[in-house]
Amino acid sequence: MNVAAQPVTRPAGGLRGLTHARTSFIGRSEAIGRVSGLVGSYRLVTVTGPGGVGKTRLADEVVKQVANRFADGISIVELAAVSESALVPAAVATAVEVHQAAGMSIVDALAEHLSHRQLLLVLDNCEHVLDAAAELCAALLMSVDDIKILATSREPLGLPEEARFRLPPLTLPRQNTSQTKPEAVALFIERAQLNPFFTVDADSDAIVDQLVHRLDGIPLAIELAAARVEALGLPALLDRLDDRFPLLISANRAAAARQRSLEATVDWSYHLLAESEQRVFRRLAVFPGPFTLDAAEAVAGADAGPAMLRLVDCSLVVPPATGPDGRSRYLLLETLRGYGMNRLREAGEEQQSAAALAAYSLHVAGRAATQMTVRSGEPPATLWLDAEDAVVHQGLAWALDHHPSGALQCAVALAPWWLLRGRWIQGSAMLQRAVDQTDPASGPWYAAHLWLGHFARGTLAYEVALGHYGTIVEALAGRSPSADLVDGLIGRSAVLRNTMNLEEASGDAHTALDLARRLSYVTGEVMALAELSLISSYADDADQAVEWARQAQRIDHDQMPGWYARKVEHTLPYVMVISGYLDGALDLAIRALAQAREAGDLTDEADTLFLWRPWLVRAVG
Ligand SMILES: Nc1ncnc2c1ncn2[C@@H]1O[C@H](COP(=O)(O)OP(=O)(O)OP(=O)(O)O)[C@@H](O)[C@H]1O
Ligand SMILES: [Mg+2]
Repeated sequence: MNVAAQPVTRPAGGLRGLTHARTSFIGRSEAIGRVSGLVGSYRLVTVTGPGGVGKTRLADEVVKQVANRFADGISIVELAAVSESALVPAAVATAVEVHQAAGMSIVDALAEHLSHRQLLLVLDNCEHVLDAAAELCAALLMSVDDIKILATSREPLGLPEEARFRLPPLTLPRQNTSQTKPEAVALFIERAQLNPFFTVDADSDAIVDQLVHRLDGIPLAIELAAARVEALGLPALLDRLDDRFPLLISANRAAAARQRSLEATVDWSYHLLAESEQRVFRRLAVFPGPFTLDAAEAVAGADAGPAMLRLVDCSLVVPPATGPDGRSRYLLLETLRGYGMNRLREAGEEQQSAAALAAYSLHVAGRAATQMTVRSGEPPATLWLDAEDAVVHQGLAWALDHHPSGALQCAVALAPWWLLRGRWIQGSAMLQRAVDQTDPASGPWYAAHLWLGHFARGTLAYEVALGHYGTIVEALAGRSPSADLVDGLIGRSAVLRNTMNLEEASGDAHTALDLARRLSYVTGEVMALAELSLISSYADDADQAVEWARQAQRIDHDQMPGWYARKVEHTLPYVMVISGYLDGALDLAIRALAQAREAGDLTDEADTLFLWRPWLVRAVG
């Protein structure tokens, strides 16, 4: 639809008024069906979506579908070239060949001319003259009975009678599914094959899948990238997508100015925003993945809410979807994020926004960690962190470079979640970097060493683990008793037991038990009892092992963190079985496995399966 204003066409005379695109059309059968249906039921239908998603091409196809329903034909008005709002009625008048009579407004002349006509008026590309287009539509719908309007716009017109259809990107390849060829892949290959040397094979398939994902399934971006295959080859094209704007420029002189490069396409939307909305948009670019409204406000200012609504409306932000944790999250397509990042740098706001993201990450990690200190808080906190994964890690990465004490707090807060999700190596690396940059006086320094000890012990790096636990014990031994000291002693005891230094292990565990009781530190007391039980069982003292484990079991575990509570609960069946008390122990083991799975504790699940494998295999076959 690249003709500024086109005459009314009648089906009898064919669809002369429609633009015939010179490239093939791919997919979209569902969207065409849906929009054609909406045109049947509503008088005003607006197809919305981000720049280059294919609204105009879709409208073209819809028009072909519905043309024979309109006795007086279709009239198409291309508004992209109309630079001023005041010129909108005139552009429509030209399209329907109405001449303004003296003393009559253009709108009245249009209304009079169109009355009793069964006509579909297509207003293509309305976003930059939105108010004028909306005003005209409202006037025509009010005064002309039979007219229907199909509009395309990055932002809806905002009229009460408007039915909106958000055009999604083209379908993308999905992992582990055997789909028919996704639309985005089909478009890329079709356009790349305009270059006769382009061939598709198993290697190129994988790269094309990644390319179209990174281009968000946006047809314009896909076409611009496909045109670069000849000059760059697929692997280099993929490599260079991080800095995509200088690359994705069209050589097609027939293309509309706003579609001649990917940057120009986004510029078009960005410049339609108010200054305050631009500021919010570019700050959202710091989010590497989905983000909540709270996160947006933390980074873009407490007053970001109204701007967010506008950004969703004008297709710069993907509308919120509910995550597994029950919270709604917005998303920026990768191209829009890259564009926003460039604007953020230009505005000199990059560091400030990154710091705000780091503060937000610390806030989320801290709240989740507090939730996880009791067992019942573990599942919601874990799901929350899963959903915030990309965001909190980005915040932590920035803090590690710029704000070590914040990074240490954040890493310690995330540690239980890393443990549950089996991400020990990543967790250790982050904790180690944070600990290396801070001194013992900072609050969570001991906790960081404790977690580093746990992660090292989990990977059987006993020497390393002993180093971390030993650091805590040596630093705190001469001071007044503390929970940190109890934890360090229990950790050290466990490594000593693992390496069969049972006497020393027992000494540490007894000291820890004694201190924990004096401090009324219940978690420490329970963990020390469990540790003593394991030491006894390693020393082949079955009765004593069961006795310690029973003592641990008798204490209420519900106010403890789940990962400790489960460890303690697993101790009793474990020592019973290795001590030969088989009755009932297997049921306890099966329950332990179920609990680990229910909590999503991959570490505990793996431990349970490992320790119990001979019995579980026998029990479940
Ligand atoms: N389904 C499709 N099959 C083939 N090509 C498509 C398809 N959808 C869009 N394109 C191509 O992608 C480019 C952008 O499409 P289009 O102009 O329709 O986007 P738009 O959403 O109207 O963009 P804007 O917001 O800038 O108006 C065009 O070159 C168009 O031909
Ligand atoms: Mg368009």
